[in-house]
Amino acid sequence: MSKTVVILGGSIAGLHVAHALLKKQIKDTKVILVSKNSHFYWNLASVRAIIPGQITDEQLFQPLQTALSRYPAESWELVIGSASKADFGAKTVEITLPDNTTRALPYHQLVLATGARSSSPDTPWKSPGTYEETLASLHDTAARVTNAQHIVVAGAGSTGIEVAGELGYEYGKTKEIILLCSGDKVAGGSSLADAAANELKKLNVTIKYGAHVQETRPGTGDAQGKTEVVFTGGETLATDLYLPTTGLIPNTEYIPSQFLGPGEVARPVLVDEFLRVPETEEVWACGDIVSKPRAGFFITQKQAISVAKNVEAALAGLKPTVAKGPPMDILACAVGRERGVGRINNTIKMPSFMVWAAKGRTLALPMVKTYIDGSVA
Ligand SMILES: Cc1cc2nc3c(=O)[nH]c(=O)nc-3n(C[C@H](O)[C@H](O)[C@H](O)COP(=O)(O)OP(=O)(O)OC[C@H]3O[C@@H](n4cnc5c(N)ncnc54)[C@H](O)[C@@H]3O)c2cc1C
Ligand SMILES: *[C@@H]1O[C@H](CO)[C@@H](O)[C@H](O)[C@H]1NC(C)=O
Ligand SMILES: *[C@@H]1O[C@H](CO)[C@@H](O)[C@H](O)[C@H]1NC(C)=O
Ligand SMILES: *[C@@H]1O[C@H](CO)[C@@H](O)[C@H](O)[C@H]1NC(C)=O
Repeated sequence: MSKTVVILGGSIAGLHVAHALLKKQIKDTKVILVSKNSHFYWNLASVRAIIPGQITDEQLFQPLQTALSRYPAESWELVIGSASKADFGAKTVEITLPDNTTRALPYHQLVLATGARSSSPDTPWKSPGTYEETLASLHDTAARVTNAQHIVVAGAGSTGIEVAGELGYEYGKTKEIILLCSGDKVAGGSSLADAAANELKKLNVTIKYGAHVQETRPGTGDAQGKTEVVFTGGETLATDLYLPTTGLIPNTEYIPSQFLGPGEVARPVLVDEFLRVPETEEVWACGDIVSKPRAGFFITQKQAISVAKNVEAALAGLKPTVAKGPPMDILACAVGRERGVGRINNTIKMPSFMVWAAKGRTLALPMVKTYIDGSVA
């Protein structure tokens, strides 16, 4: 009897699992990849792609169809649509297609890889929806960056530091760039905080500490046409462009609540040491949808490898193996196009040139090719 593996999400996690399984051409097994975004999107470079002229759309986006076309046609199917309901008991997922009709997909093995989105819907840091919507968000942000004289970046985590760094590098002498940090250190006070603040200062980025944004609203009077940022305490700041970078929300709305972590909004899916969803035999998850130990590229890659292995084992009637994380925890932030800050295990500082060479120079754009030709897996 032929078997179906359904993979939900066509990004770093989902496409990796698809390649790993399709390369094996497992007998009588079909892989169905479901993705809201018809393209693979290299979101890690979005921070630089908002600077006009730096990165082309083709460097950032490649069709998933191209990635899968290298495998025999009967072994795969690509479904562009959004998972809208999962029934782990009946072993089916409901997919809402672009024309708003639905399609039920029965599965033998299911991989949840729908990632996490930014809590600010108009930002391009993570794919906000379809390919067209993601492209529009990116182009719109780039156009607003060009036209703004004063830009406020809210949130001084890695994305905020990188966005402020790119803006400072390009516009530090001509536009005013302000980074809002809720605490008294950037990067949550981690070991790279002081280095990051120093690098940003060199790029003429002003960091405003202890800044808790209460709301933003359209400016009036002198601030007509601007956005007014209101801080708790009542202080206001008018800006041409407000770019929030805070908050990640796992895309888990289609999963029954009992399989999700506690919380109101940001609820990752629960997994055991095999990256299997507890109380299921055949549902697996990897990447930002799990966000454990944190949401990160290297963690996502390792998890995708483990999930592909465990799905393959399950198809053969074998037991799963415990998932392994990366050998060390690396966090690296580009700060502009020439420098960067990073740390290994929160103890070892990475020199600026090392971060630049490993990440900042290209923002790892050459990796896109490996996800399209399958060599990543
Ligand atoms: C600006 C930025 C820079 C980063 N830089 C680094 C870095 O230097 N190092 C590092 O380790 N990590 C970095 N990260 C984190 C890294 O981007 C994530 O860990 C990675 O993208 C996770 O991949 P994923 O496939 O799990 O999920 P995602 O990338 O979130 O992809 C999920 C996919 O699923 C699709 N989808 C969502 N909902 C549905 C649905 N219901 N049905 C079907 N499809 C759906 C989405 O459209 C998307 O294509 C960075 C993140 C950002 C935002
Ligand atoms: C699908 O539904 C959404 C919201 O319900 C709507 O905005 C959109 O226009 C619909 N699309 C089509 C093709 O009918
Ligand atoms: C920093 O920015 C201000 C404008 O906000 C500008 O006058 C100044 O020349 C800049 N300094 C450097 C070193 O780029
Ligand atoms: C990082 O920490 C892990 C354990 O958490 C350890 O095995 C590894 O050797 C450490 N690496 C470095 C370079 O400190």
